[in-house]
Amino acid sequence: MKALVFNDVGDIELKDVQDPVVKDPSDAIIKITVTTICGTDLHMVRGTVTGMKKGTILGHEGVGIIEKIGTHVKNFHVGDRVIVPSTIACGSCEFCLKELYSQCNVSNPNGPDKGTAFYGGPEASGPFNGMQAEKVRVPYADINLVKIPEGITDEQVILLSDILPTAYMGVEFAEVKPEDTVAVFGCGPVGQLVIACLKRLSPQKIFAIDRVPSRLKLAESQGAIAINFEEHDPVKQLKKLTNGKGPNKIIDAVGVDAQCPESTGSEFKKEFKKELKKIVPKKNAKGGNWVPGNGPSQVLRWAVAAVAKAGTISIIGVYSDQSKVFSVGEAMEKNITVRSGNCNHRKYIPMLLEWVKDGSFKSSKFITQKAPFADIVHAYKKFDKRAAGWIKVLLTI
Ligand SMILES: NC(=O)c1ccc[n+]([C@@H]2O[C@H](COP(=O)([O-])OP(=O)(O)OC[C@H]3O[C@@H](n4cnc5c(N)ncnc54)[C@H](O)[C@@H]3O)[C@@H](O)[C@H]2O)c1
Ligand SMILES: [Zn+2]
Ligand SMILES: [Zn+2]
Repeated sequence: MKALVFNDVGDIELKDVQDPVVKDPSDAIIKITVTTICGTDLHMVRGTVTGMKKGTILGHEGVGIIEKIGTHVKNFHVGDRVIVPSTIACGSCEFCLKELYSQCNVSNPNGPDKGTAFYGGPEASGPFNGMQAEKVRVPYADINLVKIPEGITDEQVILLSDILPTAYMGVEFAEVKPEDTVAVFGCGPVGQLVIACLKRLSPQKIFAIDRVPSRLKLAESQGAIAINFEEHDPVKQLKKLTNGKGPNKIIDAVGVDAQCPESTGSEFKKEFKKELKKIVPKKNAKGGNWVPGNGPSQVLRWAVAAVAKAGTISIIGVYSDQSKVFSVGEAMEKNITVRSGNCNHRKYIPMLLEWVKDGSFKSSKFITQKAPFADIVHAYKKFDKRAAGWIKVLLTI
């Protein structure tokens, strides 16, 4: 089959690989019909999330049709159309029973303390081959698949595989109330869906911070107040627009590839250089692609400085093991609550399917590009460069 393979940092290739097979009786093999690209994939190709094994198939977002099932699979049949949640859980350990699927004790073959098991990730996450491929093996299929209801298209549900549940969880962590003011750092696909989830809770104000004009425009079209961090210091601007208090909820939808402003430079330039040495042991930028963000802790620093006293910071942007910088003293002095984590995708998908069915969530606003799977490397390059107008690309296989 054809699959997108990680060769090395800055080196990905669409090539022929072996088809996956049923290894365990709880497995299913899915023929992927639609896949896409996530900001997390970019971290791995840029080298800001390390530890990728050569030859791993990338991608953790997909929907498809069940082609084969192992003898223990009870909840699904060959031919069922399914969403594949990005994280892999066993469904029966103490964490899975609490629906904390990303903290499953069993599914990561490296052991219970090695982190979240997911498709197309670093060696420590499995590694499991991913969904930017014609087929994928799904372990513990009874818990790691969700059936697509009759009459619903792949395009309508592809964002439920990863980023809509992630955005929802980020908003849930922030416990948003109507009296709140909320700032969202990052207006990529995840940030846009955070704004969409926030709107359902009608907070007083939603601020959206980024520097890509087309992304800020889309955030504005959703009703957010856009702040371009190349034009305004976001901390000062957020304080100014909240009567000096700062937003009481902040959501980080950027992660380790954060940029510092080019226009003004950063007062933390020296610190960022030191951080980058540890976070990015190898980089391989080519033709303007795969350039690691130059301010790994920029958003965390801005968030702690901007958030109102006794506020909450919800971190869903991905940071690596080597991301060690967080202003804990400043946060403590302000009685800040911090919540973070990899999404427990499977928990939220059934509820989010109701949003699709009742028409209150429409993926079409966020799927700005469509391409055949054969064009995936080109699509990675465009998404990596945050090309004007690019939010989420739908790749049809
Ligand atoms: N926790 C989870 O389970 C989970 C799931 C999916 C994605 N993620 C993470 O969410 C993050 C966003 O994903 P995405 O697909 O939207 O990625 P993306 O790279 O398309 O978007 C990131 C956006 O942040 C902006 N940005 C960079 N520096 C900034 C700064 N200093 N302040 C404000 N904005 C800044 C960029 O211009 C870009 O628009 C990534 O870190 C990804 O790994 C986490
Ligand atoms: Zn993702
Ligand atoms: Zn488990």
